Amino acid sequence: MESLGVLFTYPVDSYLEEELGRRCKLFRLWDSPPEKRKEFLRANSSQIRAVVGSAVVGADSDLIDSLPKLEIIASFSVGLDKVDLDKCRKKGIRVTNTPDVLTDDVADLAIGLAICTMRQICQSDRFVRSGAWLTKGGYRLTSKFSGKRVGIIGLGRIGLGIAKRAEAFNCTISYHSRTEKPNTNYKYYPNLINLATNSDVLFVACALTEDTYHIINRDVIDALGPKGVLVNIARGSHVDEPELVKALVEGRLGGAGLDVFENEPEVPEELIGLDNVVLLPHVGSGTVETRKEMANLVLANLEAHVQKKPLLTPVV
Ligand code: DGY
Repeated sequence: MESLGVLFTYPVDSYLEEELGRRCKLFRLWDSPPEKRKEFLRANSSQIRAVVGSAVVGADSDLIDSLPKLEIIASFSVGLDKVDLDKCRKKGIRVTNTPDVLTDDVADLAIGLAICTMRQICQSDRFVRSGAWLTKGGYRLTSKFSGKRVGIIGLGRIGLGIAKRAEAFNCTISYHSRTEKPNTNYKYYPNLINLATNSDVLFVACALTEDTYHIINRDVIDALGPKGVLVNIARGSHVDEPELVKALVEGRLGGAGLDVFENEPEVPEELIGLDNVVLLPHVGSGTVETRKEMANLVLANLEAHVQKKPLLTPVV
């Protein structure tokens, strides 16, 4: 692959960066400041035949148009909402992602976030560190997770992973998705408001598309209610964030565990000040083991492309 010019869009993984540097001719987008990127791309576009994108910076229409020799986008993510897939289809550019290898980690984190939010683990930790245990006595009582009514939006690989884990906590599982899934005993709600009304904890685990943009709106939040908890491990743009903030401040929603944000790495200022939320920096797949598997999948897809062999995880 030495002759393959690869543009890496975001410093998301040092192992992948090292391996790309060793095996390909690597161009790092972040090496040039944002105002100089057009110039940087123009100067190197004749050599760039591949893009490695991430869940934070992918390949939008402008980036694709600025790379006339682009043949493949190998995304270091399962979600491809940051890649202009229609444009890739039209231009014959191949696209791959990293499914399966991250399912366990993201599902683990989703359950972790629910428990962390409901049992206020981060807040209790801050309570101990601040010395308040010594001066104020025991921590306030929290909310139980085991046995609760779990609602899941999107019953794909990650949604199913969450369901399986929640079953082990004796939760009852219901879900909402575009169509009813065969072969599950989980209750299907074609209507999201009905699912939220009948859930104590609502997990967002669907792909971000035009149809699921701001799927968590005021009506869904109010249906979940003052004791309800929202957990989002999918994409920030699934949630109408100003409405979420209002509901948390006004006590119309019990709490939220969030791994993703609409304009990450920026996080709405108001959320930072709230005590009924747990905020994580998009680390769903962020374990050493999984990130290495994702990186190896990206490298294997690029290798297959160069050798004109079938891609391992093609999407387009
Ligand atoms: C993905 O791969 O799309 C995940 O969001 C990464 O954590």
